[in-house]
Amino acid sequence: MRIFRMWAVAAVAAVAAVALGRPAAAFDCKKAQVAGFTYDLGPLARDIALASNATTPPTVTETTYTLNLCGPLAAAPDSTPAIDRCPAGAWVCRTVTNFKKDEKPRVVEVGALAGTGSHDGPTLEAQASGSDAPKQLHWKMVGPTIEGVEWSTDITLVCDKGAKNEGQPKVTGLKAGVLELEWSAPAACALSGDSDGGGGGGGDGGEDGDNRDKGSSGGILSTVTTIAFFSFALYLVVGVMYKFLVVRARGLDVIPNLAFWREFPYLCTDFAQHVWSMVGNRRHAGYSVV
Ligand SMILES: *[C@@H]1O[C@H](CO)[C@@H](O)[C@H](O)[C@H]1NC(C)=O
Repeated sequence: MRIFRMWAVAAVAAVAAVALGRPAAAFDCKKAQVAGFTYDLGPLARDIALASNATTPPTVTETTYTLNLCGPLAAAPDSTPAIDRCPAGAWVCRTVTNFKKDEKPRVVEVGALAGTGSHDGPTLEAQASGSDAPKQLHWKMVGPTIEGVEWSTDITLVCDKGAKNEGQPKVTGLKAGVLELEWSAPAACALSGDSDGGGGGGGDGGEDGDNRDKGSSGGILSTVTTIAFFSFALYLVVGVMYKFLVVRARGLDVIPNLAFWREFPYLCTDFAQHVWSMVGNRRHAGYSVV
């Protein structure tokens, strides 16, 4: 039994280490956390296409960037030949099409600039200024490396209450494989207040400070819950395996520490009754006898 306990402790420690060491949870566009503030980028979640033409005699070259802040792009229609489509799992894609007089347009380049399935989701970066919410965020995501160039995308999200979420981003540059865009929208403003669900934004420093505290304690709580859950699951699995394989227990006996778990509901009710009577005593007498 002592060996089993040691194993259980080691296993729980390992699970806790994995849970703490793993990268931040999957990117949640509607509750993105940056610098202690929460952002709802949901209103910007859609596939966007930005096309522009350049005169390249004797042809015209059209460059189209398609992007979605919150998930992989939808697959191209069946009418698009498979070879001309963005790679599956791309969040940002670049397509270069060449037009020459009456000839059929020819796709000469197509590639992901963010995501392709084998990569992590996007990261958000911001610099908080004191207790004020950041006015700009950077949405960054890497794509594939092709011929030594690591493609990636860096979108500057600018908090702008006067703009519309239905608007479009602007391409500001493509340098050394990094596509840069700028997008002004109200959704790029931090949520403020606890109950109104945000949108108001701005506010004074104290209000935003409250929001910040909420955000971080929520994160810790969910991490603790996750660790507790996984630890308990691991305890059950390892315990049942031990009882089944080593002790050769069968039936209900495979449950580790069965006696304790049998008692557990009674212990709980006992405890609750105890607390209840203590509270009751205090209410009635004003003092409780210890
Ligand atoms: C670019 O030029 C081609 C050919 O003239 C045209 O079909 C296409 O719509 C143009 N694209 C844009 C974004 O103007």
